[in-house]
This record gives sequence, C-alpha cells and structure tokens, in this order.
Amino acid sequence: MTVVSVIGAQWGDEGKGKVVDIFAEWAEMVVRYQGGNNAGHTLVVGGQKTIFHLIPSGILRENARCVLAQGLVVDLKVLTDEIDKLDESGLLAKASLHISDHAHVILPYHLTLDRIREEDRSGAVPIGSTRRGIGPCYEDKIGRRGIRIGDLYQPERLAELLESSLAYWRPMLAARGETAPSIADVTAYLAPLAERIRPFVTDTVALVHDALDEDVPTLLEGAQGVMLDIDHGTYPFVTSSNTIAGAACTGIGVGPTAIDEVVLIAKAYTTRVGSGPFPTELSDATGDCIREVGAEFGSTTGRPRRCGWFDAVVSRHAARVCGGTWLAITKLDVLSGLDEVRICTGYRLDGREINAIPLHGLDRVEPIYRIMPGWKEDITGVRDAAQLPQAAKDYLNEIERLTGCPICLISVGPGREQTILTHNPFDT
Ligand code: GDP
Ligand code: IMO
Ligand code: MG
Repeated sequence: MTVVSVIGAQWGDEGKGKVVDIFAEWAEMVVRYQGGNNAGHTLVVGGQKTIFHLIPSGILRENARCVLAQGLVVDLKVLTDEIDKLDESGLLAKASLHISDHAHVILPYHLTLDRIREEDRSGAVPIGSTRRGIGPCYEDKIGRRGIRIGDLYQPERLAELLESSLAYWRPMLAARGETAPSIADVTAYLAPLAERIRPFVTDTVALVHDALDEDVPTLLEGAQGVMLDIDHGTYPFVTSSNTIAGAACTGIGVGPTAIDEVVLIAKAYTTRVGSGPFPTELSDATGDCIREVGAEFGSTTGRPRRCGWFDAVVSRHAARVCGGTWLAITKLDVLSGLDEVRICTGYRLDGREINAIPLHGLDRVEPIYRIMPGWKEDITGVRDAAQLPQAAKDYLNEIERLTGCPICLISVGPGREQTILTHNPFDT
C-alpha cells in the first residue's frame, strides 16, 4: 500500500490540480482534507479545461474514490454546483464521491463577515482574502459554535447551533449596518442543498481506514501552500487552516505513519495572490512577462497574481516543515526565452545573511540570487528529461540541491500529456 501526499510548497496555485490528476492514474482513492472553495485547481485534459474548488482533482479518473474529509469547510452552494456539473457531463454516475459528516459548513453570513473584516482592518493592510467565508467558518469551528454537515439532518439541533453562532456574530453585523439573517432564513437556504448532498454524506474516517486496510493506493490532495499555513506561513497574511503535510493527519484522521511519500509541488518561479511579503517579487517587465506567458490570473477570483523568481529559502522551509520526500516542478515552459534565470539562495536582513524564514522582517529582506543562463528553446513538447536544454537541466539541478528533495515530475505545459515523470511516487 502507498499513501502519497501532494502539498503546495509556495503561496498556492503551484499546479496541484494538474499533478493530482497525473498521480491519480495510480491512486484508487483521492482525499482532500483542508481549506474550502478559496482553492481553485485547474485540470486540462484532452484540451478541455476544468476548475474544481472543492471536489478532489482525482474525479476525472474513473478509478478513484474521491473523498472530502472532515478538515474541510464546505460552501454547500459551490459543492452542489460542482456536483450538478459533474452530473450534466455524465461523470457523476461513474464517480465515487464521499463527503464527511464532520466537515464544517460555510454559512451565508460567513461571506458577509469575510468582506466586513477585509474592509475594516483598522488601518492595517487587508489580507486579500478570497472572501469565500473561509476564515469566519474556521473561527466558528475553533470557537466551538460551528455547524457540521451531519447537523444539517437534525432540525432541532441545527436551530440551536445556528443560534449559538448567530448570537456571537449579530453584534458585529449590526455594528456594520448589516442585518443578521433569521434562523428560519438560514435553515430554508440550507435545506435543499443538504438534500442534494445527502447521498454522498458518510463517516469518512471509517471509509478511509477500511480502504487503507485493503491496501488501496491513496493520494492526499492539499490545498493552498506552505507559505499560507496559519502556523508556518507569512502570518497574518495566510489562510485560516494548516496547509502543511501534517494537516492531512488531523483533517482526515490518519496517523503520521500512514503517509509514505510527501510530494512538494513548486512552480519553476513564484507567484502570490493577495497581500503579504514576497521577497523575490518582480515589479518590472520580467514579472509582467511571466504573468502573461504563465497566464497568472487567479482560478478563484481572477485577480492578477504577483510573480517573481524561484525562492529556495521558501522551498527548503516547505521541505522541512512537511518532511518532503519528492519535488514536482511545474510551469518550467514559462521561463523559456529569458536571457537569465535567478534562484534566491538566501536573504540579507539588517546586514546579516540568513537562510530561513524570519518571524519579522520578511517584507524588507534583500534576496541573494544565484544567476544562471536561460534557455531559448520551446520545451512544451519535451517528454524526456534528457531532452531538456542543458541550461534548464542545470536550473532544475540547482533547485533540487537547494531544496534537498529529488525531482519526481517536471511539468512543461498545462495539459495532462505535457509532463515528464522521472519517478512514480507510488513505486516505493
Ligand atoms: P493549483 O491551485 O495548485 O491547482 O493551481 P492553479 O490551477 O490555481 O494554477 C495553476 C495554473 O497553471 C493552471 O491554470 C494550470 O492549468 C496551469 N499549469 C499547470 N502546470 C503547468 C505547466 O507546466 N505549464 C503551464 N504553462 N501551465 C501550467
Ligand atoms: P489553491 O488551493 C492561492 C490566499 C488569498 C489570501 C489568503 C487568505 O488554489 O492553491 P482566504 O480566502 O483563505 O481567507 O485568503 O490566502 N489564498 C490562496 N492563494 N491559492 C489558493 O488556493 C488560495 N487560497 C487562499 O489570496 O491571500
Ligand atoms: Mg489555485
């Protein structure tokens, strides 16, 4: 049996959706375990583009059971829309979809609260949240007044729980001139959505463990990226969940020893959407060129992504806090045509050289770069690592060396076929 975990090693949008789709060829179960529809995972199969916000990216492979585990926060409208789309395309009938009865429910007023929070940071910089209600929903969970999917089918309990959540938030909504919804309004909104997902709702802890007992090869699909982790990212400019490899243990209900391989996904450069420090950010023509060639616009909000050079301090941090065993590099094709490429190998902060993410001051570090020759060839048709231009090979070797993880996959285009697999992590 092999359990492979796939984690974003930067600030999200590393191409996790594509890599999960590739690895799902060998997985018979794909499990998502944290975050919500702040995520946007893009797959391009047979020239057709599909974006999933909640459904695991393994769904396009008919062999995979797809599980939304209990660490997720679920917007039922977004989930039912994704289920309806799968139904229209005939995929739902072939799919095996399972939703945890323990996952928390994003309520309509969580979206309002997310917007209010961003507008009113008392002079502080807004986080740049996707405003999908993720933060307020996780706050209700940690504050022990959240609603779980299984509660939707117990009307009296649901009304009591909603009252405890609304009692907490009403004053804030009122102070901003927003009317809190009535319990009846919220339950009327939730009822048809709860019915739509009822056939898929189950105890996913039992489901996953029964599968693991039967040696089912399993892929764990992370959302966001290590630098957006609430504990290990660029706090407070982070998301409201843990995104590192360990989050799979709490979000699914498996022990750390259950995970055999941890594949870190990183772009061949770096992007970030939303506010917060970004040491290697390029605010020049090269940054604009990467954004245009890499089509760096958010899959969830359409916002232009900030672009910059590859940061090996970040990838090494990710390898450490996740216990990375392999590295997958995506979007190498986007760098073709540049005269030179740069890798950040360390930072200079207050006159000192450092090689770790500092608690304070990441917004004013000066990146130390290794400058390497670029390559001009179009590499989107390359399927064998040996056929890559020498400069691209040297660049990848340097990334591998500085991160401390061997490369198992190189992606040279958005399509499923535009992939160079140098090691299958399911082959252990
Ligand atoms: P995720 O959130 O990590 O799943 O990543 P997103 O889907 O938000 O963003 C990655 C984008 O890059 C998507 O539009 C993918 O189709 C695209 N993509 C993935 N791999 C490659 C690649 O190797 N080359 C190019 N040019 N695009 C890629
Ligand atoms: P995937 O899974 C990139 C960012 C937001 C914002 C911060 C907090 O597609 O990689 P939130 O809505 O969670 O309160 O926003 O986190 N963010 C992401 N950035 N990719 C994502 O997901 C993201 N999910 C959240 O832009 O800066
Ligand atoms: Mg994304």
